[in-house]
Amino acid sequence: MTTAIGQPLTRVDGRPKVTGAARYPTEFPAPGMAHACLVGARVAGGRVLSVDASAAWEEPGVLAVLTHENLPRIAGQPPLVPSLFGGPAPGETFFPMQDDAVHYAGQHVALVVADTHERAQHAASLLRIEYEESEPLTGIEQGRDQAYEPEAIFGGFLPARNSRGDVAAGLAQASVRVEGTYRFAANHHNPLETSGTTAVWDGDELLLHDGTQGVTATQLTVAALLGVPLSKVRVVSPYVGGSFGCKAMVWHHPALAAMAARAVGRPVKLALTREQMFTSCGHREEQEQHIALGATHDGKLTALSHHKLSPTSPFDDWAEPSLQTAAQMYACPNYEGSYRLFRANTMTPTFMRGPGDSSGMFALECAMDELACRLGIDPVELRLRNLASADPASGRPWSSNGLEECFERGAARFGWYDRDPEPRVRREGAWLIGTGMAAAGYPAPAPGTPQRARARIYADGSVVVQAATPEFGTGVATAMAQVAADALGVPVSRCRFEKGDTDFPGIAAAVGSAGAGMISAAVHTAATALREQLVGEAVADPGSPLHGADPSQVAVHDGRMTAGPATEPYTDLLRRNHRPDAEASGTWHPPGMDAPYATTTFGAQFAEVAVDPELGLVRVRRMTGAFAPGRVLNARTARSQLMGGMLWGLGQALLEANHMEHGTGRWVNASLADYLVAVNADAPDVAVELVEVEDREVNPLGVKGVGEIGQVGANAAIANAVHHATGRRVRKMPVTVEDLM
Ligand code: MOS
Repeated sequence: MTTAIGQPLTRVDGRPKVTGAARYPTEFPAPGMAHACLVGARVAGGRVLSVDASAAWEEPGVLAVLTHENLPRIAGQPPLVPSLFGGPAPGETFFPMQDDAVHYAGQHVALVVADTHERAQHAASLLRIEYEESEPLTGIEQGRDQAYEPEAIFGGFLPARNSRGDVAAGLAQASVRVEGTYRFAANHHNPLETSGTTAVWDGDELLLHDGTQGVTATQLTVAALLGVPLSKVRVVSPYVGGSFGCKAMVWHHPALAAMAARAVGRPVKLALTREQMFTSCGHREEQEQHIALGATHDGKLTALSHHKLSPTSPFDDWAEPSLQTAAQMYACPNYEGSYRLFRANTMTPTFMRGPGDSSGMFALECAMDELACRLGIDPVELRLRNLASADPASGRPWSSNGLEECFERGAARFGWYDRDPEPRVRREGAWLIGTGMAAAGYPAPAPGTPQRARARIYADGSVVVQAATPEFGTGVATAMAQVAADALGVPVSRCRFEKGDTDFPGIAAAVGSAGAGMISAAVHTAATALREQLVGEAVADPGSPLHGADPSQVAVHDGRMTAGPATEPYTDLLRRNHRPDAEASGTWHPPGMDAPYATTTFGAQFAEVAVDPELGLVRVRRMTGAFAPGRVLNARTARSQLMGGMLWGLGQALLEANHMEHGTGRWVNASLADYLVAVNADAPDVAVELVEVEDREVNPLGVKGVGEIGQVGANAAIANAVHHATGRRVRKMPVTVEDLM
């Protein structure tokens, strides 16, 4: 029997998105809408001495000028907790305009509200703000001496140090050692839709439309900051225009929009500018990682040491978790990893696509390539010799794996084995040609709280499933209709997934590739409960052809329940009993941190580059990625996620970088004109190979997610291909023209 799950259906929300019918968070109208503009600190450290708003107030239409002098105090600052774990998820444990302190350039120091956007913007430009300025601490070279080892990172969820075995002994017994320091520029997310919020008060009830990966996270955070009951805050955000992690945590602007709306007694729309996106919703931190690998002559790893140094904000111990998957990737008995931080004049960094592992696996996989070269072992073969049959970090068995098959299928599709391992031997005209590969891995995390959905079937046979998750481009609306269709045995064309509303059953924020797994688990559980309810009613109903049948023998297909020769459509059962509809809820209880299995998604990346050695130009000619993300809900949207991730890996390897200017503490390229990302002209031929592995542990449908894994390792495959082409080992991201001249 064919299933709806897995079919490459086109997006159900494609038409509303391209016709403009889809409504994004700052496109909701409201009578009397006012418009708010944020003003960012011009200095990177110090304090606000005075704000002269007299010129702004002379402009027509100005409704409010909010600064630290008159913005209401927040009710309390909730602890920084990743949004996947439930609870409020503020982007940082600092809320602006509560006092005169300035911690980073661009920090919100004023909010101007006017009756039109243009008037608000103009009035904001007229504020005269005086600062007392202190010398900012901006980058690794200045902060290195002040580094400390925190107790924990990532909102306290991960220890700052991990080890197993004896890494010094492992390095001492190695026949070959590879050691290197890898440097990474800061990265900024740039989803097409900038972040924004529309806030509407009705008495003491607050309605928010917010660009978020989790409407519940926004509800919890804003309620906590404002001190209003949860039941009085509703967040409705059916569509969000991309995120990539910058809307995973809840930054200041949703609460500020609500405060501004309360201050002026009108609905308020607050949209960040593109430039403000660089100072208002986190970034991937600049970082340095040091790796030492030891191995025997036949390529068995004996030790891995992996240490990271990065800047964090003055108030939070945050580092993206770069050392997690790298510690689990290979069967290496001796391991040590640690995070060190220093406090800089920056906002708290945050999740950004492939959070942690896209940098940590870059370092590991470039070091593995170097080791392969030193040992004269093929890079794929070296990795196969170190496959881990269980998670080396915890000793737990894998819930599913598939890495070996990813290497085999990826290598075959790419044509890997035709290569001469010698660097700098293949030429085409002026171009040096090289190929490189890397392994990929990313956790398949479970949320920290139960996940719920609701399924309803109407007497006409149509089905609606609801859950409080927004659609931010992942394809969730399409995939969840497919999940409901299979669980109920109805055609997918009759199923609709409703989303993006805190009045729907609760779902954690869709972050860290957990979305597809947790939402499908809730939808599957709800739709299965509805099917069981209907089957139970049919076998108990003397008027049903199924009366008296064993419920466990009833199959559902094409909107009908069938047991042997007896069959009845759901619609007949409902109509005969004068029922307009039937409904069931479902709750999936995730296995939690103590699960007896390690859940990691694996993959393998291959790339071919051409390098012009005279000009230092790199062109990526082909990329092949093979991934084992468990069950694939929709082959089309999954492939497109993976391809997007691989192209992002290309951008990270060769283009993406932001730098803080020393002295001013400002980001140098805070615009889409200056912050380079890969465009269509950079996009090579990208092949995606889906390796389906069965996973009975991770969640009911065995879905491990495709949001991040496509990016992980793609950057390393490219850097390794650059080495193969040129003989140059560039231990940094991005690899730029200067590195290859
Ligand atoms: Mo993902 S970067 O955790 O939204």
